Amino acid sequence: MGRIPQHFIDELIARADIVEVIGARVQLKKSGREWKACCPFHNEKTPSFWVSPDKQFYHCFGCGKHGTAIGFLMDHDHLAFPEAVEELASRLGLEVPREGGNESGPARADEPLYELMARVARFYVESLGREARPRDYLAKRGLSAATLERFQIGYAPNSWSEILKRFGADDAQRRRLLESGLIIERERGQASFTERHYDRFRDRIMFPIRDTRGRVIAFGGRIIDAGEPKYLNSPETVLFHKGRELYALYETRRARSNLKRLVVVEGYMDAVRLHQEGIDYAVATLGTATTAEHFRRIFRLVPEVVFAFDGDRAGRAAAWRALQQALPEAREGREIRFLFLPEGHDPDTLVAAEGRAAFEQRFGEALPLSEYLVRELSEQGDLSHADGRARFAEKARPLYQKVPAGVYRELLLGRLAQVVGLPPERLEELWSKAPGAPPAAAAAPPARPPQRSGTSGGRGSLVRQAIVRLVHFPAIAAEVSPAERSGLDASEEAGIQLLRELLDNLREQPAQIPAQVIQRWAGREGAESLQKLLERKEVIADAATAAGELRAALVGLADLAAKGRLQGLEEKSRSGPLTADELQELQRLIATMGAREVRRG
Ligand code: UTP
Ligand code: MN
Repeated sequence: MGRIPQHFIDELIARADIVEVIGARVQLKKSGREWKACCPFHNEKTPSFWVSPDKQFYHCFGCGKHGTAIGFLMDHDHLAFPEAVEELASRLGLEVPREGGNESGPARADEPLYELMARVARFYVESLGREARPRDYLAKRGLSAATLERFQIGYAPNSWSEILKRFGADDAQRRRLLESGLIIERERGQASFTERHYDRFRDRIMFPIRDTRGRVIAFGGRIIDAGEPKYLNSPETVLFHKGRELYALYETRRARSNLKRLVVVEGYMDAVRLHQEGIDYAVATLGTATTAEHFRRIFRLVPEVVFAFDGDRAGRAAAWRALQQALPEAREGREIRFLFLPEGHDPDTLVAAEGRAAFEQRFGEALPLSEYLVRELSEQGDLSHADGRARFAEKARPLYQKVPAGVYRELLLGRLAQVVGLPPERLEELWSKAPGAPPAAAAAPPARPPQRSGTSGGRGSLVRQAIVRLVHFPAIAAEVSPAERSGLDASEEAGIQLLRELLDNLREQPAQIPAQVIQRWAGREGAESLQKLLERKEVIADAATAAGELRAALVGLADLAAKGRLQGLEEKSRSGPLTADELQELQRLIATMGAREVRRG
């Protein structure tokens, strides 16, 4: 599907009322021009969550969360950006337009592929109905008819060309079959298309993989009984990106509206079987390690995740990889735990053996991330000696450093320090100095070259003054003259790039309210700075005053740039002759700046 056009997002922000959107979900109290509440994103007793109808922006002074109505829906209702837009639009009775419209441009090229996948999935289900052998196999594995129906499980007939013939009537269809990964090309050279290609899935139990909207985007196919490979998956296609998808997520979301926790397992069969037994919040990674993308998806949905791994060596290796991916995602308010099943069992066989209640009881005993980390590292050495504890500290350091700053990181530090036998502050200090550790400043942006003027960088810098006014009153960008704008080109002040981009963007596509600017910048460089500047309860009188101050700041910046250049040229002229171009520039600068500037030298 095509992108949602910017003008529509602007319109949505302008027409929606953030007070109404948030008020429908959080108890708001009027306080002056704004509204306040106890923050829905962190635990608190006194309200520090503010909603501003003027800015169409919310901000929590406690936890720092902030954003527009769209951002709020994404965070609060766990929606993806397009979903949040749809939600807001439907409340206003608006249809969300897509770029590329309805023509068959590249934006719509995916559409027929979804249809093809859906038709093939239906065909596999019908084939299962016709064949006893795969049905017997599934019965033997304990899957009920209702489960087969719920997961649309099917069967790919034992043929090299069933799909090819059935769904590849013409060139366009065959091309789509190739794109979908349902057929494979052999070496070239053979005569006809049909001879050159063959079906990927033959004589296999078929598990359709669906996206969160329920559209089939890929398949996993299990061999019946024994054979290699046991599972065959669709390749990466335009519809399917393995590292992003979680099998059974669609079925999970459909089963429950009040999800609190997800269980992540390794296999298709594990997820399906857990659902059948009533643990209908199980999802599976698709034969890959858990990725950062998986974590983002999971935590958009629930605050708690339990990984269930087989008790064998492969399971433990997979768990350790998952832990490493989990560390950057760990923070207060999220719970990540690891469950190791008894040797010889996977979730499918275990839940079949002991039932739902006993299986769910195990979640209570699952190891929290921190404990799993400690256990794994302590097993690698003897902690009763200083040597062993020092080695533990050495191994823990890079893992600890993956955790983002915050309460969780502090708690983890405390736990690790306890094992090492040092006060937490001391351990942290040693770690930050230890060879190989990133220097404390590594996370900060590289130092800037010394500034010529003392005015830049500080809170009151001209760049900042200009940006603050633009964010609060975006419409004033229209009052900036082309000359005032081009005066910024030579400036090298800190933050000037953001100011230039902001000004250009707003002059090209005027915006009326702050939230439109924030939404346009979401995900772009400088987004954080813009939000910070908007949050400040700075009094900026009105649009007319702001416009005047903005223009004064721009003139000031042009002036600073010219002064800097002038000084540079003067210095250079003392140590040697200037080129003709430089002389000309010097004369031009002197003319514009006035003679008073030259006398200083
Ligand atoms: P397992 O080998 O643990 O299989 O692979 P399983 O899930 O227990 O399957 P059953 O019970 O024997 O039917 C776990 C997962 O790893 C991926 C699949 O996603 C599978 O569900 N896998 C495994 C493959 O992609 N290809 C393979 O050949 C094997
Ligand atoms: Mn299994």
